[in-house]
Amino acid sequence: PKKAVAGPLVGAVVQGTNSTRFLVFNSKTAELLSHHQVELTQEFPKEGWVEQDPKEILQSVYECIARTCEKLQELNIDISNIKAVGVSNQRETTVIWDKLTGEPLYNAVVWLDLRTQTTVEDLSKKIPGNNNFVKSKTGLPLSTYFSAVKLRWMLDNVRKVQKAVEEGRALFGTLDSWLIWSLTGGVNGGVHCTDVTNASRTMLFNIHSLEWDRELCNFFEVPMDILPNVWSSSQIYGQIKGGALEGVPISGCLGDQSAALVGQMCFQEGQAKNTYGTGCFLLCNTGRKCVFSEHGLLTTVAYKLGRDKPVHYALEGSVAIAGAVIRWLRDNLGIIETSEEIENLAKEVGTSYGCYFVPAFSGLYAPYWEPSARGIICGLTQFTNKCHIAFAALEAVCFQTREILDAMNRDCGIPLRHLQVDGAMTTNQVLMQLQADILHIPVIRSSMPETSALGAAMAAGAAEGVGVWSLEPEELTVIRMERFEPQIQAIESESRYSTWKKAVMKSMGSVT
Ligand code: G3P
Repeated sequence: PKKAVAGPLVGAVVQGTNSTRFLVFNSKTAELLSHHQVELTQEFPKEGWVEQDPKEILQSVYECIARTCEKLQELNIDISNIKAVGVSNQRETTVIWDKLTGEPLYNAVVWLDLRTQTTVEDLSKKIPGNNNFVKSKTGLPLSTYFSAVKLRWMLDNVRKVQKAVEEGRALFGTLDSWLIWSLTGGVNGGVHCTDVTNASRTMLFNIHSLEWDRELCNFFEVPMDILPNVWSSSQIYGQIKGGALEGVPISGCLGDQSAALVGQMCFQEGQAKNTYGTGCFLLCNTGRKCVFSEHGLLTTVAYKLGRDKPVHYALEGSVAIAGAVIRWLRDNLGIIETSEEIENLAKEVGTSYGCYFVPAFSGLYAPYWEPSARGIICGLTQFTNKCHIAFAALEAVCFQTREILDAMNRDCGIPLRHLQVDGAMTTNQVLMQLQADILHIPVIRSSMPETSALGAAMAAGAAEGVGVWSLEPEELTVIRMERFEPQIQAIESESRYSTWKKAVMKSMGSVT
C-alpha cells in the first residue's frame, strides 16, 4: 500500500561520537518517517587518547543514507520528495585532510582526547595580557576539549600534516566540514565550509565578530588558509554528488547540541535543554546577548538560522561522560551485553547502596575543568553487586546534570523551573525518574528523542532557496512531551548530592 505522505521531506545526518544516523522527516508534520543507525569504532591508542577514523565515519554516513532510502522505498515513499539535507555533528573533533587526494592525514582527534594537556599548559604560560585573552574572544576556557589545541598537536607531531600544510594541500575541519566537503564532491569541487555553531567550538573563532580571529590564529600558530569558510546554520552550502540523493542541497548545519536546542524549539531567551548522548550538554538560550559565566559554564553560539538572521548565543554546561559510561560498562567491564540492559539492572535494586561512581574518564569538564581528575567507584562493600554499580552509573549522569544546572541557575539568577531533556538515554525511565528526584524539579522529556536530527532538518528545510519548513512561531509543530515529577523528599536528594560532591573531590585527588 502506498503510504500517504503529505508535503516535502527533509533528511538529517546526525554524526555523533558513538554512532552515525540518517533520519527523514515530513516537513509539514515533523513526523519521523524512517532512519538508519551505524555504531562507530573508537580507538584508544594510548591512555587518554581517543581517535576515530574519518573514512569509517564517512562510510557510515553513506551507508545510513542508502539504507534509509531503501527503507523509505519499502514504505512506498518516493525519495525524490527529499528536498534538503541537514547535518548535525559531534563538535570539536578535529580532522585534517589532503584536498588533492581526499585522504585524511591523521585519524580524527576526538573532543574527549586528553593528549593536549601539556600543549594547554605550555600555551597558558604564553597568554598575552590577561588570562581572559582566549575566553573573552571565544567564550571558552583554554582546555584540551576544543579543536585549536588538537590541531596544534597535529601540526607539531604529524609529519604528513606538516608537509601538506607547507605544500598548500591541507584542509582543516570539524566533522561537519569533512562530511560536507566529501558529500559535495570531495576532490571534485567539494565545498569547504562550516557553520557558526561549529566554528564557535574551535577556539579560533571570534564569537562577537563571527569571523576567524587573526590574533587567536597567531597565538595557536594555525595557518588561516587551512580553515573552512564560516556560514550561517541555514543556507545552501552545496549539492550532494552521487548516491540516492544526488543533487539534493545540503542546507542546514549545526553542532549537535545547538541542533538539539533548535529541535526542542528553545527559541526564547531563558529556554534550556539537556541532551544525554556520549556526554551531557545543558544549553540555555541567552538571546542576542553573549553572557559570560562566573560558574564554569561556556559561552557559545546557539544558532544563526539564515544569512541575514540574527545570531543567538547560549550558556552551556558540558559534561564529558554520560552515555559513554554505559558503553564502558558494556565494552570494558562486560557487565552488560547491550546498553539497554542497564535499565533493568538498575531497576532490580533501585539504589546504589552507598556506591558512588564518578566517571571522570576524560578529566572533569563543567563546572570544574579539571583535566587531571580520573574516574573512581567508591563506597563498595561485599554486598555491592553489578546492579548497584549500574544504578550508581545512572545516578552519576544525574548528579553531573545537577552540577551544571546549579551553575546555570547561579549565572542566570532565575532558577529553571523544569528541565527539558532529549537524547538516546532519555528512553531510560529509571534515569528520567532519578533525574527528577536529584534535581527536585520536573523533568520534561520529548517523545521524539532525536531532537538534534529534527533541529538540523528544520534548519535545512527553512533555508533560503529550499523553503519547505516554516520556523514562524505559530507554524512550529509542537512536540509531545512527558513529565517526570520528583518522588523523593528534597532532604534526601540533598544528602545524596552532598555525598556525590565528596566523591568528586576524591576523583580530583586520585592522581597527584
Ligand atoms: O561537544 C561534544 C558533543 O558535541 C558530542 O556530542 O552526541 O556525541 O554526545 P555526542
